[in-house]
Amino acid sequence: MNTPTKAEPARLDQFYTVTEARFDRWRSLLQASRAWEVAANQQSADKEAYREAVSGSFQELRQWENFFAYPGQALLKTLSECIDSNDATGTTRLAQLISAALLTHSYRNNPADWESGEQTPITFADKLPGIGEETVEHRPYFEVLMASPARPAAWSELAQELRKLRRSQDRFVYEPVFVGSFEDAVLGAILNGSIEAVVIYEGIPFASSHHSPILREFLTTHLATSGLDTNSGQYGLALAQALKQLRPELDIYFLSDRQVEKVAGDTSAACIRRVFYQVEEPLELHLSILDGIADRYDTPYFNNLQKYAQRPMGTFHALPIARGKSIFKSNWIRDMGNFYGLNLFLAESSATTGGLDSLLEPTGNIKIAQDKAARAFGADHVFFVTNGTSTSNKMVEQALLAPGDIMLVDRNCHKSHHYGAVIAGALPLYLDAFPLTQYSMYGAVPLRTIKKALLDLKAEGKLERARLLVLTNCTFDGHIYNVERVMEECLAIKPDLIFLWDEAWFGFARWSPFYRRRTAMGAAAILERKFKDPAYLQAYKEQEKKLSVNPSDKTLLETHLLANPEKARLRVYQTNSTHKSMSCLRQGSMVLVKDPSYHTVEEQFHEAVFTHASTSPNLQIIASLDVARRQMELEGYELVNRAIQLALDVRREVNSHPLVSKYFRVLGADELIPSEFRNSGFVDYLVPGVNWATVVKAVREDEFALDVTRLTLVCGTAGFDGTQFKNILAADYDIQLNKTSRNSVLLQTNINNTRSDIAQLIKVLVEISQGIEKRLSEGGSVAQQAFAARVKSLMTDVPNLPNFTRFFARFREDPSSLTNEGDMRSAFFGAYREHQCEHVKLFSQEIDKRLKEGPELVSASFVIPYPPGFPIMVPGQVLNAETIDFMRKLDVKEIHGYQAALGLKLLNPAFLQAAKTPSPVPVVHAKGKSARAATTR
Ligand SMILES: Cc1ncc(COP(=O)(O)O)c(C=O)c1O
Repeated sequence: MNTPTKAEPARLDQFYTVTEARFDRWRSLLQASRAWEVAANQQSADKEAYREAVSGSFQELRQWENFFAYPGQALLKTLSECIDSNDATGTTRLAQLISAALLTHSYRNNPADWESGEQTPITFADKLPGIGEETVEHRPYFEVLMASPARPAAWSELAQELRKLRRSQDRFVYEPVFVGSFEDAVLGAILNGSIEAVVIYEGIPFASSHHSPILREFLTTHLATSGLDTNSGQYGLALAQALKQLRPELDIYFLSDRQVEKVAGDTSAACIRRVFYQVEEPLELHLSILDGIADRYDTPYFNNLQKYAQRPMGTFHALPIARGKSIFKSNWIRDMGNFYGLNLFLAESSATTGGLDSLLEPTGNIKIAQDKAARAFGADHVFFVTNGTSTSNKMVEQALLAPGDIMLVDRNCHKSHHYGAVIAGALPLYLDAFPLTQYSMYGAVPLRTIKKALLDLKAEGKLERARLLVLTNCTFDGHIYNVERVMEECLAIKPDLIFLWDEAWFGFARWSPFYRRRTAMGAAAILERKFKDPAYLQAYKEQEKKLSVNPSDKTLLETHLLANPEKARLRVYQTNSTHKSMSCLRQGSMVLVKDPSYHTVEEQFHEAVFTHASTSPNLQIIASLDVARRQMELEGYELVNRAIQLALDVRREVNSHPLVSKYFRVLGADELIPSEFRNSGFVDYLVPGVNWATVVKAVREDEFALDVTRLTLVCGTAGFDGTQFKNILAADYDIQLNKTSRNSVLLQTNINNTRSDIAQLIKVLVEISQGIEKRLSEGGSVAQQAFAARVKSLMTDVPNLPNFTRFFARFREDPSSLTNEGDMRSAFFGAYREHQCEHVKLFSQEIDKRLKEGPELVSASFVIPYPPGFPIMVPGQVLNAETIDFMRKLDVKEIHGYQAALGLKLLNPAFLQAAKTPSPVPVVHAKGKSARAATTR
């Protein structure tokens, strides 16, 4: 028998691991009590030690349970009594019941889980329903946080009162969780992802009964920066505001026994859904709580589509698949029907009537669904897109840019932006991201580079034509911008610059309190508040005074510039591949708009939608966008936390496993973000001493942060290049992953992953590592030398990453200009005429000769190798030795825009030297003139 062990004390600041750590604590208690039961049955001399271990484990777990409705005080009391009265069997039975109920969530629908009565122990397997095996109608369960100044002794009576209000027709069922202070309410909202609504009673005290310095530090920083007034002694409103910043989706109700009209009229109460006079109308409170949930639960488009599918419908339109008759009656394709099920075909239609609405010009339930998405994501408007973010990006760019406008853009951004520039006729001004040469990848664009580009444009008199800044947040590899700082400083230089944040990978981030402030919408909300604050205006004026005497670019580059809040227009667009990080069918994407000047571009926005959106959008994708929004508003917080936690688990397990870490490692923030961009001193998530407060500080201050869910696993040290390793994982282990680089693969955790997935991954890495060990030991020094040479070639002999060179003179308005924007569209279409092009073999001597002596090599097309997945060459770009060298060293199979048999497609010297047709005339936008006048520095 194992000797009894004391449970490790858990810290209250272990934020990310809350849910899973809770399960683990209950499983530990169960194991300890089973061991105790065996010892007790065998009358072992150690049985008291076993009992003490159980008691310790229970005490440790007990403090956390105050923040959850289940198992609740009554069951916990019974459990405690079982332990105290030496009832090892009773303790085990109860611990088993509770663990199983928690793990399977059966307590949400099963009243027996709330009782401690004698019954046969239930196993986990008994409780798990099969996928799609719902027999009774599911009534979703949630918890309501009640922040009350009443004595804890009165809480169970109050809870009973609330339960009495339940009615059979209620669509949802909830349990209250009582807390007695401001701090405990914040803790409850952080720890308990099932909390969906909060009821705040006036008069709650501030301090928690839990003593966590980290929590206090977090609260202090949080409250200090949010401008909340916690000195008034009235914490109710401050609590409502704090909770909204933490979890904006929560419905907040306020119960006051003073002048409720005054509270309701207070502008700071805008975050409160309803104010009640405390002693009145408990049923109204109950109904309001359910109504708030119903509002989030409601998926207008999906609901309607389900109704539509159930109606008898004669279809005389052009979609034979609709209703499924051509499938289910077919002799040959019936298996398709059986595979997908009837509903898919019943829910297909090409009609936009019958309540189905039109995606191209929504006025009905698609419009409502989009408005709900706007609320969920913190935007003014949302557009659903059914052709992926590739299309969303082109739509936004076409809508906002006209020929001749300058678009500042990360050269390594997704190809859709490059094509967006071609379509709009805008001149891309490529910005270079910092390179991570060793891993053959790029990071993100430093703020200094962006500011320098704007200042150069200003020096050249072209600032007013700089209309849009496009950045990828986060990048494929997980680099997250300090979005707030980037927008603030750019607006200081150009107050009407528009921002397009490509958050293809980052839509989920809205539901993490850590990441939200680094999303386009989160940062825009922060800046909006900042710009309204008189103290900010004052600070701006003081800075303005200091900088008024012709500041040098050096000074401007080194100063944290404040924007003029009276002039800055916060025009923010975000695109996200909803399908990449939420429960949405492939190609489901959204465009989020937060732009006070949106009305000035609305018409062209609709034109862009008409240009790019299919006239036959897929109804199931629209419905899944609607449902993805519902899920995130109701359980996004918990799911995203779990995805983050699982990513931390992978990082820890891989990097600390004695065998696996010999060959593989997951890169930390310190390896992916140079220290000059980590001013807070943050090193990585899993180094000793890092806790919630350090992470919060880094997320607030550092120029770049790393999204933990994006895991760069170095495999070059195991002798595999990225593609090779990806293929091994897929072919031999059924593991699919994201992208690859020369010596790494990118894994990603998301809201779909489970601990079993992580266990499987680790097991596979152990197996592969064992295989390497075996090969090396059996193969002797020959195998070891070959392995070392392979590792060296993958990890050390890496090609330099080529930055963007420049556009050929013909495609620049003024080739001597400081700034390097170019008319890529003319180059792109120049290649449409065969006689204007030539092909030159990549490995030919002609290339080397022309690199030395000219004429210059100018790309006719986009050349995009996968990996890295961004254009190494764009139309009109002059190629230099570095670019050619990189192409020559590429050992990937897929290179779009390049056919090895023909060679590089170039624009030929005759075309390049011929007189050019006039370049596009810059458009003066409605705001153009005022923009010039508004330029501050
Ligand atoms: C940064 C970025 N933006 C946009 C896209 C295109 O998104 P979608 O696949 O939804 O068309 C991708 C695709 O990988 C991407 O990485």
